[in-house]
Amino acid sequence: MPPRTILTGAARHQPCTLVVCRGCCCGNARKLPGADHAWQLERLRAAAAEGGFQVRTTDCLGPCDQANVIVVRPSAAGRRAGGRATWIGFAMDDASTEELAEWAAAGGPGVAEPPVTLELQFISPPREGKVRSRR
Ligand code: FES
Repeated sequence: MPPRTILTGAARHQPCTLVVCRGCCCGNARKLPGADHAWQLERLRAAAAEGGFQVRTTDCLGPCDQANVIVVRPSAAGRRAGGRATWIGFAMDDASTEELAEWAAAGGPGVAEPPVTLELQFISPPREGKVRSRR
């Protein structure tokens, strides 16, 4: 039998959260030219304000060769339904940014199915990957 996740306090109402890597490579225009990294973060924050999810940034998550990396953390409801953090790689173009926003607004992992094309960008988290975020 799988372990049960018991959430208490504010965690019971935690919305889906996009953890956007902005470390040494992700979001770095010198290393990844041709993408508007500032627009991406602004677009996700604007979509979060409308769609009821959260956006946070974090330092390097590890898989820099797959930048930009964004982790979709499930909401409390999604976690109760079996949703787990989903790592997205190569998230730099407008289409993947919009799909990330759409999925998070729909509820994210455990609540809504991801867009099929976004599934093609799922990556494995590093073995000891932990998502720490800052605002
Ligand atoms: S800077 Fe994003 S994974 Fe390293």
